Amino acid sequence: MKGIVFTQFIEMVEQQYGYEIVDELLTNTNLPSGGAYTAIGTYSHHEIVCLVVGLSKRTNIPVPALLNAFGRYLFCTFSRVYDHFFEHFHNAFDFLENVDNYIHVEVIKLYPDAELPQFTTKRLDEKRLEMISNSERSMGDLAEGLIAACIEHYKETASINREKLTEDAKSERFLIVRAS
Ligand code: HEM
Repeated sequence: MKGIVFTQFIEMVEQQYGYEIVDELLTNTNLPSGGAYTAIGTYSHHEIVCLVVGLSKRTNIPVPALLNAFGRYLFCTFSRVYDHFFEHFHNAFDFLENVDNYIHVEVIKLYPDAELPQFTTKRLDEKRLEMISNSERSMGDLAEGLIAACIEHYKETASINREKLTEDAKSERFLIVRAS
């Protein structure tokens, strides 16, 4: 997993819980990399899972809620750092329909070793978009946070209904229903 994911996670924890918690987390979690993350590095995705589990124990906030919050935080960072990717899209459905065939394609050009989920999308009607995600890393909670932040980014209102398609949650269906 790319370093930007780790540096952003540490930044979010520092902002929301303070530096002592970051320090405690990095010291008490068994991290093969040692925890000195750089934005351009690449680290095992198991480390982010260990950090989120550690934060969950420390804060008593369940892991899915932390991953969702992190997805929202990450989306805001992406919209700042990669603002040129956003110029092409003017609403949430257009953006979400292009994560797989444009956004993540550009991500792979920048970071050839990025490990990304696959999405297939289908516009069911004017108000409903179906997104099916497949990820070896079962990151559905993170995806839900990213989708929620995307809807907010475009100042829209929509509900996100989520359903596991496989027991291990490697494949999930998101049904996004726009309010108006
Ligand atoms: C709502 C829109 C988006 C969704 C739903 C989404 C979904 C995801 C998910 C679930 C992951 C975790 C890896 C996995 O599950 O296999 C991921 C990784 C990533 N995404 Fe996206 N993404 C979105 C938008 C973006 C944008 C706008 C950017 C930047 C321009 C971006 C860049 C990345 C990067 C750099 C990674 C890390 C890859 C790695 O660690 O190797 N994503 N994305």
